[in-house]
Amino acid sequence: MHRKPLRVALLGFGTVGSSVAKILVERPELGHHVQLTHIFNRDVARKRANWMPSSVVWTENIDELFAAKPDAVVEVVGGVEPAGEWVRRALTQRTSVVTANKMLLAAHAPELLHLAATNGAQLRFEAAVAGGVPLIHGVREGLAGDRLMRVSGILNGTSNYILSRMAGCDEPMSVVLADAQRLGYAEADPSADVDGHDAAAKLVVLAGIAFRRHLRLSDIPRQSIRTISGADFRYARRLGCTIRQIAMVESADEAFHAFVGPALVLRGSQFGLNMGANNVVTIAGHYGGENSFSGAGAGGLATAVAVVSDLLSLTQRTHERGEEWPAARVAHPPARPYYLRFVVRDRPGILAAIAAALARQRINLDAVLQEPGYPKDALPFVITAEACEEAPLRGALEEISALDFHAERPLALPMLLHPVAQESATGAPALGDDPRP
Ligand SMILES: NC(=O)c1ccc[n+]([C@@H]2O[C@H](COP(=O)([O-])OP(=O)(O)OC[C@H]3O[C@@H](n4cnc5c(N)ncnc54)[C@H](OP(=O)(O)O)[C@@H]3O)[C@@H](O)[C@H]2O)c1
Repeated sequence: MHRKPLRVALLGFGTVGSSVAKILVERPELGHHVQLTHIFNRDVARKRANWMPSSVVWTENIDELFAAKPDAVVEVVGGVEPAGEWVRRALTQRTSVVTANKMLLAAHAPELLHLAATNGAQLRFEAAVAGGVPLIHGVREGLAGDRLMRVSGILNGTSNYILSRMAGCDEPMSVVLADAQRLGYAEADPSADVDGHDAAAKLVVLAGIAFRRHLRLSDIPRQSIRTISGADFRYARRLGCTIRQIAMVESADEAFHAFVGPALVLRGSQFGLNMGANNVVTIAGHYGGENSFSGAGAGGLATAVAVVSDLLSLTQRTHERGEEWPAARVAHPPARPYYLRFVVRDRPGILAAIAAALARQRINLDAVLQEPGYPKDALPFVITAEACEEAPLRGALEEISALDFHAERPLALPMLLHPVAQESATGAPALGDDPRP
């Protein structure tokens, strides 16, 4: 059956928007399916590109765009508002929406999905998580037959660039971050990336796709990577591990465990081997086991591929039923082994004081590691704790933090290890051993 091409209006002609237009112009064969009719941007005159067909209308008047009644709008403006207002307006007039906007979805996905469903429109957002990696299609369609249990991954390229570089060199976070900013991997204000907000927003979207439930962004515990030092990488290596910013959500009865922050992962695992700004996500299913997706998590053209793919999927499925994401509860994290790093002004009795505080909370020590060569007034050492609940651990750390020998605040990182790998942590090397190959 011959269908007319989908008439598409582009909202935002920045990095992603201009790349979407470029793909549509460079692939004329897609013109049978998708036809770009309008480009909207503020101060649009400075955006005009001479490679766009003259049939495309450039406008800074959003009313003019909606009056043309496009079949679909692509929202690549970013931010929660006014992008959200425009997405609502489109869905209300039964215009489908393709968006790359994880912040908008993290804040309002249930409302927008409901609006789409009640108006018979579609809301697509493959580009909102892991850029060009076809993760959402893969999970939504490819894994629909499984009962999914856990989604975990590296969702923020900037943090992964910083941590994977720190693992390979001996430079402090400040130097690596400044380099990342110079190379365009990190924003002038890097907090959304390094403090976990960006990955948490993507996790909300992924949880929606995997579990059809909506986690509130503010309920997801987040830990910054800013406190990670070169010493942490050296100690992690002795445990057969490295450090990555991990975003994880797993179903737990009626609730979900969720976490975004730095964690110890095995050096040889997919997460440990993931370098630079690459993204990698592993989905664990009850029946099918683990499946991973990896690739460029950002970049104009990679992200635009996801947007164009969404547009093409709109042309194929006009009668798809909408979906709803009821609110979900985030529960306390499960018991896990922890890496505890202390930086102290050295004196006798420190280890005994820490061990006693942990013992009072019934937390078992696994290993103690101390590398030579550090100054006595800022001596880092590490204790690994056997799997324990977070609340008693926090209690012990509060008590320990009040002691007077600290040169830095103690750091606690979860050790997200495969069951097989936990054996290697349990058999952690004694002082002086070095398991490096
Ligand atoms: N870049 C990536 O690699 C990437 C990857 C995945 C997802 N995304 C998502 O894609 C979306 C767009 O990102 P981007 O990198 O393309 O951003 P961008 O380069 O800043 O582009 C946004 C465009 O929207 C325009 N705009 C912003 N606010 C506007 C307003 N109030 N009225 C009219 N026009 C407005 C901007 O105009 P000005 O030029 O005047 O600012 C700019 O042309 C975001 O939601 C982002 O999270 C981006």
